[in-house]
Amino acid sequence: MAEEIITHSPEETANWGREFAKRLSAPVLVLLTGELGSGKTTLTKGIVTGLGAAREEEVTSPTFTLVHVYGKPAKVYHADLYRIESFHDFETLGLEDIFAKPAVVILEWSERFPLQSPWTQVRIRLEHQGGDARRIRVT
Ligand SMILES: Nc1ncnc2c1ncn2[C@@H]1O[C@H](COP(=O)(O)OP(=O)(O)OP(=O)(O)O)[C@@H](O)[C@H]1O
Ligand SMILES: [Mg+2]
Repeated sequence: MAEEIITHSPEETANWGREFAKRLSAPVLVLLTGELGSGKTTLTKGIVTGLGAAREEEVTSPTFTLVHVYGKPAKVYHADLYRIESFHDFETLGLEDIFAKPAVVILEWSERFPLQSPWTQVRIRLEHQGGDARRIRVT
């Protein structure tokens, strides 16, 4: 599949995520970068549903509960580092425990804290392209 695509709707972004999910096998870390509203959570909906871990409406922005867990047993972890203020707060996410077992870990605003992990990392960059257009790049 294409390493770079321009989508024109949230549905298109989620669909790309569903296709992209086929390439992922645990343990893997998916690092999402891109400005506010660029579509990181929308893309995550696609990835999580593509992995069969939850239904689309169950995938929401991890704001108050800092880490969302999808699937039973846990298959996908989804966190957003945007509101994480300090390294101390970052540590309270308990990512070390998450990394104890193979999973798919998806991080929004991943660039805020450099992560030490031996897992394979996939970086996806999202960019506003005016209106509803978004450029998605696997880097
Ligand atoms: N092509 C598109 N792809 C993704 N989202 C789109 C697209 N066009 C419009 N949108 C809209 O843009 C918004 C993207 O929101 P989303 O929560 O996915 O962004 P985000 O990158 O997770 O933001 P945040 O940094 O606040 O977490 C949604 O309101 C969505 O409907
Ligand atoms: Mg988001």
